[in-house]
Amino acid sequence: MIWSNVIGTGGYLPATVRSNDDLSRMVDTSDSWIYERTGIKTRRIAAPEETASSMAEIASREAIARAGIDPQSIDMIIVATGTPDRVYPSTACLLQQRLGIRNGVGFDVQAACSGAIFAVSIADQYIKTGFCKTVLVVGSEICSRIVDWNDRATCILFGDGAGAVLLTASDQPGILSTHIHSDGSYEDLLYCPNPQVAIDAQKDEPGVINMRGNEVFKVAVNTLGRIVDETLAANGLQQNAIDWLVPHQANTRIIAATAKKLGMTMDQVILTLETQGNTSSASLLLAFHEGVRDGRIQPGQTILMEAFGAGFTWGSALIKY
Ligand code: ACO
Repeated sequence: MIWSNVIGTGGYLPATVRSNDDLSRMVDTSDSWIYERTGIKTRRIAAPEETASSMAEIASREAIARAGIDPQSIDMIIVATGTPDRVYPSTACLLQQRLGIRNGVGFDVQAACSGAIFAVSIADQYIKTGFCKTVLVVGSEICSRIVDWNDRATCILFGDGAGAVLLTASDQPGILSTHIHSDGSYEDLLYCPNPQVAIDAQKDEPGVINMRGNEVFKVAVNTLGRIVDETLAANGLQQNAIDWLVPHQANTRIIAATAKKLGMTMDQVILTLETQGNTSSASLLLAFHEGVRDGRIQPGQTILMEAFGAGFTWGSALIKY
């Protein structure tokens, strides 16, 4: 049997830090309101010259260096992003160019905040069938460019960054299972219009994130509870088999509810939310990278990744590291 094994991780965060106090000078909010409701204190904001592909390149180069592989051995690049450099070429093709790779295939995945899980799941399918040997998965987002900085309900949540993971074929267990889902009937609760497209141009809607946060919150908590059950059942495992929860970083209260469902303490959760905010499809890979880099995540441990985002989309990946 062929398994997908993690051989390297990488991450990148832009230099500029925007604090809750900075935001309280822009909109009617406060550090205490934001921190108590979300768990966020600061987030990073990309410089004008930065793009999803430029940030993806830095995160990818770190993952490649940590894996110690020749970039030419990468035969698939999947970039999860809702903030691509261009409508086309895909950000994955732009990343392929930046990395000087001319073989294999690159394409983007758009599943909002669940994008990294979707990309890992796709990579795993191609590795397991033998179609690919080494796949680079990246989540890269410049959320700051699609946030309405006058809307206090959303501008406090999001940040910019990129995370990367390299997966390669092995005869040893790695990714144990992935589970991905979507339900398009929730469009109105969380969406970002595209003003270039006729339907949004007619409505004169700007291209910024619209969210009914409270309603999203409730669906997210219930849905993530179900995906935890689905993942454990598919692998015949009990809650105590999981060493680390690596969640999409949207809100500490959502993450705490999932940890509770797993009977885990917050010490078993990799949290980056406080200093990074919600970096959409990058957040989970950035958290995974942080846990690997600082040595909390150790070889042989079992990691549950999960995410929920616009669509709605949601999913999980159970990984033997
Ligand atoms: N500062 C102060 N007050 C605020 C702020 C703010 N930044 N934002 C909203 N408020 C006010 C509201 O106006 C409201 O006031 P009112 O009662 O007078 O009307 C009050 O606070 C409560 O608002 P709620 O929206 O009910 O606040 P809630 O406790 O739900 O917290 C939050 C809001 C943090 C957005 C939360 O709902 C949340 O995290 N939702 C989930 C977000 C998420 O997971 N998104 C999915 C991923 S994103 C993606 O896929 C792109």
